[in-house]
Amino acid sequence: MTEQDFLKSLESYGQRHILDHYRSLTSHQRSIFLDNSRDLDLRLVFKLHRQFTSADNSRRAAADISPPAVVCIPRTPGEHDDALRAHSTGESLLKRQKVAVLIVAGGQGSRLGFDGPKGTFPLSPIRRKTLFQLFAEQVRGLSARYGVTIPLLIMTSGDNHEETMRFFQKNRHFGLAPASVYFFSQGVLPALSPDGRLILEDKVHFYTSPNGHGGSLKALSDSGLLARLTRAGYEELFYCQVDNPLVRIADPVFLGHHSLAGSQASTKVVRRRSVEEKVGVYLNIKGRQAIIEYSDLDEDHMKALDDKGEILYWAGNTAIHVFSLPFIGDLNSDGFALPYHLARKSAYVVSSDWEPASIDVWKFETFVFDAIPLAERACCMEVAREEEFAPVKNKEGPDSPDTARQALMDLHRAWLQKAGVEVPPDAKVEISPLFALTPEEAAEKLKTRKVVASPEIYIE
Ligand code: UD1
Repeated sequence: MTEQDFLKSLESYGQRHILDHYRSLTSHQRSIFLDNSRDLDLRLVFKLHRQFTSADNSRRAAADISPPAVVCIPRTPGEHDDALRAHSTGESLLKRQKVAVLIVAGGQGSRLGFDGPKGTFPLSPIRRKTLFQLFAEQVRGLSARYGVTIPLLIMTSGDNHEETMRFFQKNRHFGLAPASVYFFSQGVLPALSPDGRLILEDKVHFYTSPNGHGGSLKALSDSGLLARLTRAGYEELFYCQVDNPLVRIADPVFLGHHSLAGSQASTKVVRRRSVEEKVGVYLNIKGRQAIIEYSDLDEDHMKALDDKGEILYWAGNTAIHVFSLPFIGDLNSDGFALPYHLARKSAYVVSSDWEPASIDVWKFETFVFDAIPLAERACCMEVAREEEFAPVKNKEGPDSPDTARQALMDLHRAWLQKAGVEVPPDAKVEISPLFALTPEEAAEKLKTRKVVASPEIYIE
């Protein structure tokens, strides 16, 4: 983009305050400002601003909503057989080196109030392993089990990219081959004031914000990583968020159901705890599977009960998915297919006289789960919350480090008890992912290993 084009587009979007600012800069500052602005999609943000200004943004009852088909936790012998079949299909994908893993870690973690990338939060109950270490060790354990390389992709944002990479380097990639760990940064979009004005972060930068975790599917393509994985023969991408230490990375049963269903976009769900729980809701809209965020779903559907008094739309989004790589390619084949959502936030920026000030801003974000209704086939699988879902969102209370740590301890205690190990009631328990990834694996290995009862039982 030439200077001329840049100024012309600012003029056409009515951004006189930026033009005035630009004229006040030295020629050196102007060239830096221009460089910093080159990749920003102004056309898109002003289009979105028009769209959200004219839209009625109140919660609306979406039409034709019905409960979706879900592969439930197996109870009958037939369902157990299906799970076994899925397990061997998933294992075959892993053994044939068809699966890569993506962790989205671009968020700012502001609710947690932790100063640093969320993945660097020390979480495990005894060793205080960070979230990143817990995930990396799972990938290491899986790669060793199947004798393959499972690439670990970490999506960062501009704010935490360098710090995240340094953290992995400092920790020698937690034993993974550095060449199998890929970091890529998600895109950003300029934020606008509610009346559609671009905002300055400082003299030479617009105020921008990450384009949402849906941006991972765009950045994968833009960065060339998607093409690289495809060339190397990978076919499926296991996707999860950085905030859930219980996630079962590349779970073969999940991969297997995804594959057997011919799905392009699959999701693990848990039963919603209550009609108020702040999770996305998996449902069917006009015959297509979809997730609607709790804050966007109308109250009638949010609170609907069935005739037994149970939550009708019970499937809560864990944000654990599998996406097929060709499908991610399709989503990027004609522009980027995911829709944008409007987030109204406040931001601390410089005011016109360069004093810091808090102002209202409009940010534009994509949600990765909006890929689901675009898939020809989607698959949804229920899992037990206590086994796979304990996200760290808040500093205290529900969904906090304390609750996640407790969930991890309870889970590992249950694994030990299942293997016949006696655990003192108040003992802290932690099983390293390098020791076992599943209760079955733990039970098998514990046949030849004596566990000494102590207040802290760490098994590696
Ligand atoms: C999300 C889901 C919700 C689901 C819940 C499960 C959305 C809108 N909501 O809620 O349906 O039930 O998880 O825990 O997705 N991130 C990025 N880049 C971004 C924004 C976020 O990488 O631009 C990452 C964060 O690092 C984090 C994850 O995405 O790992 C979750 O983002 P967040 O916006 O906090 O969604 P939740 O409220 O946690």
